[in-house]
Amino acid sequence: MHTKLIILFGVDFLQYWLIAIPQKETTMSNHSSLRKDAIRRVNTLFLSAERVAEIINRKGIAECIAGVAAYIKQDFLRWNDFDKCARVANHSAVGVIELMPVADARTYAFKYVNGHPANYRYNLPTVMAFGVLADVETGIPNLISELTITTAIRTAAMSAVAAGALARSDSRTMALIGNGAQSEFQALAFHHLLGIETFHLFDIDPNATDKLVANLARIGLKSRRFSDVRTAVKGCDIVTTVTADKTNATILTADMVEPGMHINGVGGDCPGKTELHADVLRKGPVFCEFEPQSRIEGDMQQMPADFPVTELWQVLSGQVVGRSSADQVTIYDSVGFALEDYSALRYMRDVAAELKMTETVSLIPTLAHPKDLFGFLAENRGAKRPLLAAVAVAA
Ligand SMILES: NC(=O)c1ccc[n+]([C@@H]2O[C@H](COP(=O)([O-])OP(=O)(O)OC[C@H]3O[C@@H](n4cnc5c(N)ncnc54)[C@H](O)[C@@H]3O)[C@@H](O)[C@H]2O)c1
Repeated sequence: MHTKLIILFGVDFLQYWLIAIPQKETTMSNHSSLRKDAIRRVNTLFLSAERVAEIINRKGIAECIAGVAAYIKQDFLRWNDFDKCARVANHSAVGVIELMPVADARTYAFKYVNGHPANYRYNLPTVMAFGVLADVETGIPNLISELTITTAIRTAAMSAVAAGALARSDSRTMALIGNGAQSEFQALAFHHLLGIETFHLFDIDPNATDKLVANLARIGLKSRRFSDVRTAVKGCDIVTTVTADKTNATILTADMVEPGMHINGVGGDCPGKTELHADVLRKGPVFCEFEPQSRIEGDMQQMPADFPVTELWQVLSGQVVGRSSADQVTIYDSVGFALEDYSALRYMRDVAAELKMTETVSLIPTLAHPKDLFGFLAENRGAKRPLLAAVAVAA
């Protein structure tokens, strides 16, 4: 009995030695041969709201809008290279929070964005956003950036790209209905990219219009304020609606629409949140970004599923005619699509590199061995409380 036990123990021990030691040796040799410079450090470029403001102030806002517009055009001409989906929206009674992903073979992007029209009660903007550019090959997040200011720039740039393809080229006057956070950016984009000289302003909040009048005057843009939508849009070449209200509003009705007008509908971008009366959409061809998303979120949510719409990339690539006559009414039913954020993030990343902005954040732990995530905790324990004690307290 005693001998048998010894033999069994010996066999088990031998098996353990044969299996465990070689495995251990392989693992340890990788671990110990890892030179310091081979450790993969992930530094994610960080663009705060202040850094983006610095970029815009150093480059000039007109150049930034033009730059983002050029990147958007470039990316829309590669439409079929992208893996696209409608954004994922979580609705509440007062607003929405959305995730907007898109990717090509090399780069993945997403934006987090909200829409809370009553946020002014908390002294907060209606729209707040941030986003990421990541490497498809490894999943490394290469850039994390603010996207509140950048969204205003990209939305205005996208509106101008659409109007460049759809509005009359002799357009000089634009009505701006809704004079909130997006409005200056829309005015600047239409002035610099399309030659709009005068802006007709209306907002139900006179303080918002006061702010816009003052800001436009400061940058040398001409504006006139009106007391209602009807008089504001009268005689305008382009009408931009950029209001915020979580309701099926009818900011613009068909009888206000004049021959040759281009409608840039920006604020109808969520189920149950529209700006244009359905008859406005029947006035002329309707264009959108990504049809599956726009049918859910755009003003076209009011129309039947077979209502004809054209994706803008088809116009930009010359496959479909945009405007066919000077008298035609054209309608861009904007909702904001992830590809525009991909373009805007690319632009900001490239300009940050050009301006040598290199601030990074450590989002991903740097590991001595890729499978020893746990070891990272010990390395960063410092002189404080031992790990197990911390766990015990937390439990
Ligand atoms: N399509 C896109 O890509 C895109 C991108 C960003 C924002 N948006 C949308 O644009 C809208 C404006 O955004 P913002 O950041 O400027 O919001 P904001 O809250 O700063 O400004 C909106 C303005 O609309 C005004 N308004 C509300 N109802 C009105 C009405 N009936 N008539 C006239 N004015 C009215 C408000 O008083 C406010 O001043 C929002 O609805 C937002 O969701 C769309």
